[in-house]
Amino acid sequence: MMNEIISNTKFDVELTNESRIHEVDFDNLVFGRKFSDHMFEMTYEDGQWQQPKVKPYGAFEITPAMNVLHYGQAVFEGMKAFYVDEDTVHIFRPKVHHERFNRSCRRLCIPETDYDTFIEALETLIKLDKQWIPQESGTALYLRPFIFASDDLLAARSSDKFTYQIITSPVGAYYAEGFNPVSLTTTDEYVRAVSGGTGDSKAAGNYAGSFLPAKKAKEEGYTQVLWLDAKEHKYVEEVGTMNIHFLIDDTLVTPALTGSILPGVTRRSIIALAEDWGLNVEERRITIDEVFEAHEDGSLKEIFGSGTAAVVSPVGFINHKGRTIELDREKPGKFAKKCFDAITDIQYGRAEDKFGWVHEVKI
Ligand code: COI
Repeated sequence: MMNEIISNTKFDVELTNESRIHEVDFDNLVFGRKFSDHMFEMTYEDGQWQQPKVKPYGAFEITPAMNVLHYGQAVFEGMKAFYVDEDTVHIFRPKVHHERFNRSCRRLCIPETDYDTFIEALETLIKLDKQWIPQESGTALYLRPFIFASDDLLAARSSDKFTYQIITSPVGAYYAEGFNPVSLTTTDEYVRAVSGGTGDSKAAGNYAGSFLPAKKAKEEGYTQVLWLDAKEHKYVEEVGTMNIHFLIDDTLVTPALTGSILPGVTRRSIIALAEDWGLNVEERRITIDEVFEAHEDGSLKEIFGSGTAAVVSPVGFINHKGRTIELDREKPGKFAKKCFDAITDIQYGRAEDKFGWVHEVKI
């Protein structure tokens, strides 16, 4: 049977014949395992983006010579849509995500995309697959736009053809710990990124390179690696799946964006909230030694990470060459909880959106 096609203002929409929603256990959502019924797709060839479409989620043909398989020319974004009520969903800061998406494209030599198509694609997917939006607090519909090089090309140069897709996925907490503190370890064997490289872009390959160190950290009992700078192994950078913040006395210290750290959207939102609350806010380089010193003299109050998937994630333990910082491993710190509540209250529409961060979608 042919799938039904409906016309949208901007692109054709091919509807699925058979929803897979019965496969989802909404009470036990695992991050990024189940994908909603529809996806967005737009290809780039002959020097321009072609007609976009929305179609049933599914496999597509790839050839063995496809550029992305060999050289990893690919970028992505991670965003979320939050259930507010039966008529309303909030997308969190789509404009900022789209700006970062284009920044990543520029760095990876991928053609940029326009915001109107991006937001209309997201809205269309959210409306079509509204049954897939989980309703519990702490859950969301994760939105994953990505672009990859789709030319058949073994020459090591930029592709001339690209495929841009958006898939969506109902998700719960990213870490198994939920909102309980995670434990981190530094490594002097590996680095994540160097200034001038791709660490401040959401390049697919950044993540591939972190899997081995992350696997080793896990085997040693840590949740993730706390990355230090590549040159001196001295300055704290980020966690790879989230940015990092330190509350030292009443100052929020966040590693400055020196070119090898991902400019996180939640990171930026937490800094804005802290400034609004009248806290001292510093974006600067911070050494791992300073963190240990602050712990020793009692001024280190809290450590927490931030990210779209991770939201706000308290850090209860850090290992650095056998020296350890142990904060309360049982429960999140007060300030991390305050940030978590403030951000999620805005996301779920429980608090006034005074910064204009949410994009409302009527479903
Ligand atoms: C996100 O926070 O959305 C990310 O993209 C991190 C991802 C590796 C899960």
